[in-house]
Amino acid sequence: MEDYIKFQNITKIFPGQRALNDVSFHICKGEIHALIGENGAGKSTLLNILHGMFSATKGKVFINSEEVKFTSAFEAIQKGIVKVHQEINAIPELTVAENLMLGNEIIKCGFILNKDQMIKETQELLDKLGCNFSAKEKMKNLSTGKKQMVQIAKALYINAKIISLDEPTASLSDGEVRILFKIINELKANGITILYISHKLDEIFELCDRATVLRDGEYIATLNIKQTTEDELIRSMVGRDVSMFGQRIKPFRVEKDKTVLKIESLSGTAGFKNINFELKKGEILCFFGLVGAMRTEVMRAIFGADHATGGMIYLNGNTLDNSSPSACVKEGIGLISENRKEEGFVKNLTNSDNIALASIQNYMNGFFVNRRLKEKNAVRVGEKVKLNPNNPDFMTSNLSGGNAQKVILAKWLSTNVDVLIMDEPTKGIDIGAKAEIYKLMEDLLEEGKSIIMVSSELTEAMGMSDRIIVMREGVIVAEFNRDEFAEERIITYAVGGMKNEEVF
Ligand SMILES: Nc1ncnc2c1ncn2[C@@H]1O[C@H](COP(=O)(O)OP(=O)(O)OP(=O)(O)O)[C@@H](O)[C@H]1O
Ligand SMILES: [Mg+2]
Repeated sequence: MEDYIKFQNITKIFPGQRALNDVSFHICKGEIHALIGENGAGKSTLLNILHGMFSATKGKVFINSEEVKFTSAFEAIQKGIVKVHQEINAIPELTVAENLMLGNEIIKCGFILNKDQMIKETQELLDKLGCNFSAKEKMKNLSTGKKQMVQIAKALYINAKIISLDEPTASLSDGEVRILFKIINELKANGITILYISHKLDEIFELCDRATVLRDGEYIATLNIKQTTEDELIRSMVGRDVSMFGQRIKPFRVEKDKTVLKIESLSGTAGFKNINFELKKGEILCFFGLVGAMRTEVMRAIFGADHATGGMIYLNGNTLDNSSPSACVKEGIGLISENRKEEGFVKNLTNSDNIALASIQNYMNGFFVNRRLKEKNAVRVGEKVKLNPNNPDFMTSNLSGGNAQKVILAKWLSTNVDVLIMDEPTKGIDIGAKAEIYKLMEDLLEEGKSIIMVSSELTEAMGMSDRIIVMREGVIVAEFNRDEFAEERIITYAVGGMKNEEVF
């Protein structure tokens, strides 16, 4: 295979932060090339340089032996180099067809399509991709997975030659992942070169031809997937062996006769109904299900982030005041949200301010915040979650995706809540840090706290929980004690007895 995209001595320095240091390697035409590495390794930065969103401080990018210097993402798109975004920038009120054509009129040589033709062309593309939704559907009605498909369709529409995806499966259900992989393989069969960032090693092994490993902004190696093992990949990513993955290490400490949280007949506008369960002291109770099972909605209703339409909630035997999230925090419940980017931290605050958000009273000196105390705590919990850089003055929004999530975890670790609800706590978090978070969960239990974990990863659910509740389409469909855990049965309940469920 010829060398198609070439990164040559790429260095990227942000104010106070070297994100990439002298990185050189190449990508072959028509391959699926993974970029892997721990949080903050520089993966997204490298992609953003290729796509014209950042410029490199030093170094050159070549495509087809020709140096390219895009000054904007738009310029790169015009050359057929497209990034499928995690945060999708579509206009929600417009239809799929309208969004697909948006901004592409110029590329199509000023040829303005009429509406019917526009819909017809879009529908053909969607059908070709195997998406069974209509070009006339409004964007806002589509799931994340479907929105991603629209972006891929858009890339095909402009004849993209290079498509990159940065953690595309982070919010997809298993069924959606299967469809995405099928499409990616078809793109490859059509000669399109794919760059693929993911923390999920099983995806890399299934999908990719080669993988380039970055560590702390340095190039480590490019490995041929067929000739490597999972252990070798992990070792080159983290520079050490990661053992005991997603398993309980400390003794179980659930106190079955002590109910901390009791939910009775909870229902909500999102459509979930008749939710009943109890959380015991010292327990990790997992809510497992496919994306869309409404687990997040239930948790938000408990936490007062959404309005419940019926039901009762008791914390330590008393009716919980969940009139607002802040009331809940006062009562002793915390929620680490799944949408950490939007809900977890404040954009223009530093790490120490964000970490102090839910526990500010701990650092108050009369009317004033004791800055030293606040920063000391930030560094302490930052260390616990292996935050990088663990700098209290660093702007959280400038952290890598995974490290921003760790700030949110650190925020809740600073509080003294009795019950912590963790919605997909390890989503987007690298393999080394994942092990740290599992360890932290056990530390929390040791401190006398109880945890509800929403997870879509069965290994994590089965490895970490005392009990698993399975939800599907807004109702609880099954419950398993640890000694009853069986992979096949749990999945069967989650998908409703049907395998290969149609999701698109
Ligand atoms: N706009 C920015 N300003 C300052 N530093 C930045 C900025 N963007 C990224 N960085 C820093 O560059 C480094 C690399 O970040 P990058 O987002 O590329 O990591 P990543 O490998 O994609 O990690 P993750 O797996 O967590 O998404 C990090 O240390 C991050 O803090
Ligand atoms: Mg990233």
